[in-house]
Amino acid sequence: MAIERTFSILKPDATRRNLTGKINAVFEEKGLRIVAQKRIQMTQAMAETFYGVHKERPFFKDLVSFMTSGPVVVQVLEGENAVAANREIMGATNPANAAEGTIRKLFAESIEANSVHGSDSPENAATEIAYFFAGHEIVG
Ligand code: PPS
Repeated sequence: MAIERTFSILKPDATRRNLTGKINAVFEEKGLRIVAQKRIQMTQAMAETFYGVHKERPFFKDLVSFMTSGPVVVQVLEGENAVAANREIMGATNPANAAEGTIRKLFAESIEANSVHGSDSPENAATEIAYFFAGHEIVG
């Protein structure tokens, strides 16, 4: 199996409720290693660029507003098939549809305040990691 890296965000609803340690514990228990991490305040411009692919969707303004409503923790997670593994660990986008034991089932408040973001492909993971981290900040 390939060791891979994925990009992750602990969203403002998670930082607001002081859940960063509990969510990180789930990643680590499930075999993902946090090889880079920093707490930042996203600006509107950063959020609009990061979520640019969704700019025509009806929730775009709300999503940008939510993601800039408080600090986030951006991360690089490493492990076997990390992109797909993390999608499983996070659970469905809407917590109402998320499987038992997933982060969104455990912690998410709504489809907007859903606690975590994870890359949806290895290609997007590479782009998203490069957007937030310099190479020297990632220590495997
Ligand atoms: S996915 O993973 O791309 O299939 O999910 P998708 O449904 O396309 O959602 C993309 C991101 O938009 C967020 N989202 C919303 N935000 C606010 N309001 C509504 N209604 C809403 N629906 C979806 C969702 O949490 C996804 O955020 P990320 O950070 O990519 O997980």
